[in-house]
Amino acid sequence: MSQDLTKRWWPEQWNGYELLDAGDGARLERWGDYVLDRPDPAVIWPAATGVEEWNAADARFEATAKTKGFWHTNRGRMPESWDLAYNSDRLHLRFKLELTSFKHVGLFPEQAVNWEYIAEHLRPGDTFLNLFAYTGGASLAARAVGADVTHVDSIRQVVDWTRENMERSGLDGIRWVVEDALKFAEREVRRGNRYTGIILDPPTWGLGTKGSKWRLEDQIRPLCETVAQLVQPGGFIIMNTYSGISPTALEQLWRATMPEATLESGELCLRTRHGDWVPTGSLVRINP
Ligand SMILES: C[S@@+](CC[C@H](N)C(=O)[O-])C[C@H]1O[C@@H](n2cnc3c(N)ncnc32)[C@H](O)[C@@H]1O
Repeated sequence: MSQDLTKRWWPEQWNGYELLDAGDGARLERWGDYVLDRPDPAVIWPAATGVEEWNAADARFEATAKTKGFWHTNRGRMPESWDLAYNSDRLHLRFKLELTSFKHVGLFPEQAVNWEYIAEHLRPGDTFLNLFAYTGGASLAARAVGADVTHVDSIRQVVDWTRENMERSGLDGIRWVVEDALKFAEREVRRGNRYTGIILDPPTWGLGTKGSKWRLEDQIRPLCETVAQLVQPGGFIIMNTYSGISPTALEQLWRATMPEATLESGELCLRTRHGDWVPTGSLVRINP
């Protein structure tokens, strides 16, 4: 019998963010000066910390629908927005955070794993493409090490948010594209543009600029086939998904798309103060 252990990646250099505890369907997280309690359906085991610490959170998210809800804020202490710094050996980034009605605050802290990989593997003048880029952590990491960065997201407000993060991080010169990621990638193939590094983190439901919706399961193969044509030899692709596709399935898809490439896949995780792992998504790294 052979056995291949699933790899786990988790960020190790956060000071501003801390996963204090995870249990009973929720996470207790410190984001700078504020502690938030928000649902996480992946957390099916009991909490390690007593209820007093959970009750002392500055804000707690109550879900009213699958992806919507509202925040109860404690003691009127929560500002409308605040800053969070990420300082590691390689990177000094700064993000604006906000309590959104989708339970998010504008950052996926586990993505710091990808920021470090990007910063380690890019050199000044390399080209980097961030598809489904959200508030741009990966774009900032690539720009911070001197790469030419193209940041693509179909929602203009999200791109504006990233521009603020770029300025707060003391960076400039990112190329902004508000467009459907697949359409942009297809056009780049036709134009003959190629990139040293590419990251893509497609959501379960994609939203085009004109409000057109697509399901990831219908788009994932054309998406991967197109992105495969955009990477330079010796470069890298990182694909990440929070859509419930297993790391093995993601790896298989890339194995079929780029049979010659070297692949590694696993789960992107966070780790609590108590040493518990919280799975957040699937990750595959492709080196053609
Ligand atoms: C899961 S988030 C990505 C999180 C990101 N990896 C990070 O680290 O912050 C998905 C993003 O894709 C964007 N998006 C949704 N549909 C899109 C489409 N068709 N083309 C481009 N971006 C899209 C959303 O606006 C959102 O910002």
